[in-house]
Amino acid sequence: MNLEPAVKYSHTLLQPIIGHGNTVIDATVGNGNDTLFLANLVGPTGHVLGFDIQQQALDNTATQLTLTGLTRQVQLIHDGHEHLEQYLEPQQPISAALFNLGYLPGSNKTIITHADTTLKALNTCLKHLRRGGIVALVVYYGHPGGEQEKEAVLAYAKGMDQHQYQVLHYGFINQIHQPPFLLAIQKR
Ligand SMILES: C[S@@+](CC[C@H](N)C(=O)[O-])C[C@H]1O[C@@H](n2cnc3c(N)ncnc32)[C@H](O)[C@@H]1O
Repeated sequence: MNLEPAVKYSHTLLQPIIGHGNTVIDATVGNGNDTLFLANLVGPTGHVLGFDIQQQALDNTATQLTLTGLTRQVQLIHDGHEHLEQYLEPQQPISAALFNLGYLPGSNKTIITHADTTLKALNTCLKHLRRGGIVALVVYYGHPGGEQEKEAVLAYAKGMDQHQYQVLHYGFINQIHQPPFLLAIQKR
């Protein structure tokens, strides 16, 4: 067995905690890989709320969902994840949220996630997260602006109350080209 890259390991951690009928968040839809993964886990009775600020990304993902018969449980939202609160009921529990930070590969490299909006969205997710639920952030930071977001997210995660949350930091430390790492935050 090989150790899994951060993106793959985020799925490994989320898979056992998401069940049919759950509500989950894909905070950065991009090409929709995570959206499809989450849609399969929640099943036709569940809900995936997927956010992206790029219409093209949502259109590509909508096509993938149609081809795989997963449209029913996914709401694709052309809005920043910092406005997530507007799309959830006040007491609505979520069992997971997934962020892939950075830019969309093959697309405009200047359209990136930013520390302030990422942290705002993360806070909303944590507020709605059920006990035992996980927010996973795959942090890409090798692009201009990435280092600043990485530092902000790491500082926030390190400061979280250990009685309320377990925070895992997973990544390869001997690879060149700044491979992404994973932060997984579980509510106790
Ligand atoms: C690394 S990509 C996501 C990759 C995606 N999870 C996949 O499976 O292909 C980051 C995405 O975040 C989006 N993004 C940037 N700022 C955002 C924001 N404030 N709210 C929602 N999405 C945002 C970008 O448009 C980009 O598509």
